[in-house]
Amino acid sequence: MDGTRPQYELSYKGKAVILPSHLGLELARDKHASKGLNETDLMDGFEVEKTDTSSFDETWEPVWGETKTIRNHYNELAVTLQQKATAEDGGRVLILRFRLYDDGLGFRYEFPQQPDLVYFLIQDERTEFHMAGDHTAWWLPGDYDTQEQMTQESRLSEIRSRFHDAVNWGNSSVAVFSPTGVQTSLQMKTDDSLYINIHEAACIDYATMHLELVDNETRALTTQLEGGSNAYTPNPAPSRYPLPPVFTFVSHLTPDATGLKGAMQTPCQSPWRTIIVSDDARDMLSSNLILNLNEPCALDDVSWIHPTKYCGVWWEMIVGKSNWHYTDDRPSIQLSDFKGLNPSTFQPFDYSTAKPHGRHAANNEKVRRYIDFAAKNGLDQVLVEGWNVGWEDWANMWKRDVFDFVTPYPDFDIKALNDYAHSKGVKLMMHHETSSSTQNYERHMEDAYNLMNQYGYDAVKSGYVGDIIPRGDHHYSQSMNNHYLYCIQEAARHHIMVNAHETVRPTGLCRTYPNLVGNESARGTEYEAFGGNRPDHTCILPFTRLQGGPMDYTPGILETQLNTWSDNTSWVRTTVAGQLALYLTMYSPLQMAADLPEHYEREDLAPAFQFIRDVACDWDDSRYLEAEPADYITVARKAKGTDNWFIGGKCDENGRQSVIHLDFLDPGRSYDCTIYADAHDAHYEQNPKAYTISKKTVTADDILNLTCAPGGGFAISLMAQ
Ligand code: NOJ
Ligand code: CA
Repeated sequence: MDGTRPQYELSYKGKAVILPSHLGLELARDKHASKGLNETDLMDGFEVEKTDTSSFDETWEPVWGETKTIRNHYNELAVTLQQKATAEDGGRVLILRFRLYDDGLGFRYEFPQQPDLVYFLIQDERTEFHMAGDHTAWWLPGDYDTQEQMTQESRLSEIRSRFHDAVNWGNSSVAVFSPTGVQTSLQMKTDDSLYINIHEAACIDYATMHLELVDNETRALTTQLEGGSNAYTPNPAPSRYPLPPVFTFVSHLTPDATGLKGAMQTPCQSPWRTIIVSDDARDMLSSNLILNLNEPCALDDVSWIHPTKYCGVWWEMIVGKSNWHYTDDRPSIQLSDFKGLNPSTFQPFDYSTAKPHGRHAANNEKVRRYIDFAAKNGLDQVLVEGWNVGWEDWANMWKRDVFDFVTPYPDFDIKALNDYAHSKGVKLMMHHETSSSTQNYERHMEDAYNLMNQYGYDAVKSGYVGDIIPRGDHHYSQSMNNHYLYCIQEAARHHIMVNAHETVRPTGLCRTYPNLVGNESARGTEYEAFGGNRPDHTCILPFTRLQGGPMDYTPGILETQLNTWSDNTSWVRTTVAGQLALYLTMYSPLQMAADLPEHYEREDLAPAFQFIRDVACDWDDSRYLEAEPADYITVARKAKGTDNWFIGGKCDENGRQSVIHLDFLDPGRSYDCTIYADAHDAHYEQNPKAYTISKKTVTADDILNLTCAPGGGFAISLMAQ
């Protein structure tokens, strides 16, 4: 305790990770949840009532994952704090629960039900993370609505000066809040080579946390507030409590439309705040701390959940060659009379009378072509976007009644196409772009999921482009986090797997709800068509975005020059071999083969596509062999239920030499090894499509030497003989 304020600190092998840092929450004073009085903050006035320690060790099996089993082994400390009675209330109890793992720490606030803490509103959580130095950090600008930015690499002290240019101002929904506000998961490295990662686990019924850095300028700019001699306004996050030292991150929750950060009813708890630590970067990637801090699987029957490889009617629309919408006839479309203004006369827009513009991609002929391609190449599903009415005026209009999720366009025969797919052993994958109109989605959801059940869809890609409706709310608020979870739970009831784009960054909830098979929640491959992702982008995402769960990154763009087949002048910033590596380094049980069938079938690219056909997407074992944030990642994975291994290595713009000892293979066994590598003159910009394929027989005694081109990588299959 620091007087009457709780604090914690963390060290690793004798080195400071978190210097003494305060814990607490400021509650809303002007607005109040349950009483006609000001709420007393949960910041100070505490004394320790008791401490309980315990330890836990179990091994559990994920429904899908990087390894067959996961060990959950920690020591726990629960500190029960008693806040002294004030004029306003009779004193309150707060529990701080810490779980210490070999690879880090998780802790959370627990609020037991009690007479003087029943309903409360959070002004902000004030969890501090006082860093021990001016570390190198890989950060994204803190934003209440988007995570689709390029990662910045800088010292903590440089965040403020780099902030403005780091924002993706062109995104359809941007809400930055502070020039030193950054997102989690935040990866850092100290000058003495400690790797530190801050994120959260099990964010349920709570707002998503950002981190706001106190730097030198914060202290200089601080103005004094009423309510305490040291009270501060660092940026837009005023506090009634003293300003923490320089290089302290303070938690900053995402507000809802009221500006407040949480409406709570006891008993309840915060998510876990997580700090993963190691002196070996590979441990950052193999850590299961975040999954372990989530609750076990909540579903009784998981037999319907399966890893999925898919292709889709998608990339050609992203690139701009074809469209989601069907007609240019009308400036706007009215789908229903939900306002009840003219119930007797209202007629929804009749698409059968509309003139098609001729670039509608989700048409019967094209979808059949994709189904044939999937069937021929062992892909499980075909995503079809733009199959349903409403795309004519869907984005950024703040249009509530934007989609109904059940009515196909006239040229998409939903029954015939599903029948055709099933006859070939393939499923269609549903698409629900909500356009962030959340109430609209919720009111149509039961019908939408029933339609999926009727036609045999078992997976949905959903999306939340643009500002949230109801207006004023944000993508990562408590209410939106509840919406996303509601969708997952309702989907589970219908045996539907969910891959949600533009939603909140994941926090390990896929352990509890394994039908959450993917999220975007970062800058995906689509940006290769919007100006490009830096070559090191996929060398940092596994350290950051992927900490909380898999990403639907949609790799596999083998025709890297988009202007060879479209008017799009953007180009993919990796080599072909680098694209193949992503199927290993960007772990996901859901993997897309995102390029067009005609590219995969081309003579020059078909040999590389063979790797996408072969590679597994569920694993019994994973070994991170080489890793350094934003520089390179090499991982070997053993395919589920087989003795086959696959290895992927991805590097940044500098290229790399990799030396891979195959000593993880079964001793004495021989493997057919196929290596997809960058050609000697390959380069992500000048010569991206130059790759080689070589084959040999290897054993556990072999060592492979591989050269990655700038922006390149390699992919290897090892089939047990
Ligand atoms: C953005 C998603 O990330 C993308 O994959 C999708 O095609 C569009 N929204 C349309 O829903
Ligand atoms: Ca997106």
